[in-house]
Amino acid sequence: MLRRLHHEQPSSFAFTPANLAWAEGQIQKYPEGRQASAIIPLLWRAQEQEGWLTRPAIETVADMLGMAYIRALEVASFYFMFQLQPTGSIAHIQICGTLSCMICGAEDLIGVCKEKINEAPFTLSADGKFTWEEVECLGACTNAPMAQIGKDYYEDLTADGLRKLLDDLAAGKVPTPGPQNGRYAAEPLSGLTSLTDHESGKHQYNASAQLAVDIGDTVKRIDGTEVPLLTPWIKSGATAAKAPAKKVATKPAAKKAPAEKAAKPAAAPAKAAEVTSVDEKQPEVLTAPRASGKDDLKKISGVGPKLEALLNELGFYHYDQIAKWTAQEVAWVDARLTFKGRIERDDWMAQAAKLASES
Ligand code: FES
Repeated sequence: MLRRLHHEQPSSFAFTPANLAWAEGQIQKYPEGRQASAIIPLLWRAQEQEGWLTRPAIETVADMLGMAYIRALEVASFYFMFQLQPTGSIAHIQICGTLSCMICGAEDLIGVCKEKINEAPFTLSADGKFTWEEVECLGACTNAPMAQIGKDYYEDLTADGLRKLLDDLAAGKVPTPGPQNGRYAAEPLSGLTSLTDHESGKHQYNASAQLAVDIGDTVKRIDGTEVPLLTPWIKSGATAAKAPAKKVATKPAAKKAPAEKAAKPAAAPAKAAEVTSVDEKQPEVLTAPRASGKDDLKKISGVGPKLEALLNELGFYHYDQIAKWTAQEVAWVDARLTFKGRIERDDWMAQAAKLASES
C-alpha cells in the first residue's frame, strides 16, 4: 500500500505540556547521540494525542531528536500502526481480516463498517466520528472475528454486535472490551476443565479486559495527564515532568540537518505541576525497611511481585504505612502505579490494617 502524507495538513503541532515532559523522559532513556532511538514512542504519543500523524507532528518529533525530517517520515510511513490520514474523532476501527477471522465472519464486520462508516477504508464517516481499516492477524484468533478499537480488543463479534458497539461509541459510551458473546476469555465452548477460579466471581473480566476497564483509555485521546506517566529509569517514582533536563535537540539548525547532527540543549521541561493532580498528597515514605524487616506486601490482594517492588521503590515496606493512607495519599500512590483504581477497589488500606494487626 502506498503510504503518503495526507493532502490536508494542520499548520502546526505541539505536544501538550505533560506529553512533552513524557517525551523528554523517553529521550533520556538513550545514550548521548542515540536520541533518534526514541522516534517510535514519540511518534506514537503524537498519534495518541492527535488521533493521527500529521506532517507538523512528524517534523516536531524529528526536531526534538535532531533528525532529518525524511528520516522521521521514513519511520512514520513504514509502520502501518501510524495513521497518516485523519481518523475518526471517536475511534478508528481495525477489523482483522486474516484467516480465522475471515472464516468466522470478518467480511460481515467489514460490511458493517462500509455501511455505517464509509464505503472506503481510511475515510471519515459523514459525521467525522469514525474511520476503519482491515488489518492483518491481531493474535486473537481463538476469539475470531475481532476488531481493535482504540487500544483494546473487542472479540467474538457479530455484525449486529459491531453495529451496537459503533452506536454505543457514537453515543459517548465505552463498551467493555474483550469477548462480546459472554465468553470469559478464550475457553472452549464446552467449558473449562482447569483455571476455573474466575467462576467464583472473584474476577469479573479476564486479565486483558480487566486492565482495559481499569485504565479506561480505550478510545481516549492521550494528553499526558493520564496515569501512568512514570519514568522509573530517571528516578524511582518520579514523573517524567520532574525529570532533569538533558541535552536533546528541540529545534534543528535547519530542515536539512543530517541525522547525525549533534543534539542541542533541550527547551525547559514542562512544568511538573501540570502533571501532578493538586489533590494528591505524598504519604510518609521510608528510605529502607525498618530493622524488623519488610512486610510481605504481596499478602494484600491485588499486589503482585511487580507492584510490591514498585511500592518498595516508592518507600512503602510495611502494612501500617499503607493502612493509614488518606484519600489524597491514595491519589498520590495511584498516580504512580500502573493499575489505577486498584487500591480503592481492593481496599488495600483495610487489608493492610488487618495484616498489621495480625503480625
Ligand atoms: S486471524 Fe484475526 S486475530 Fe488472528
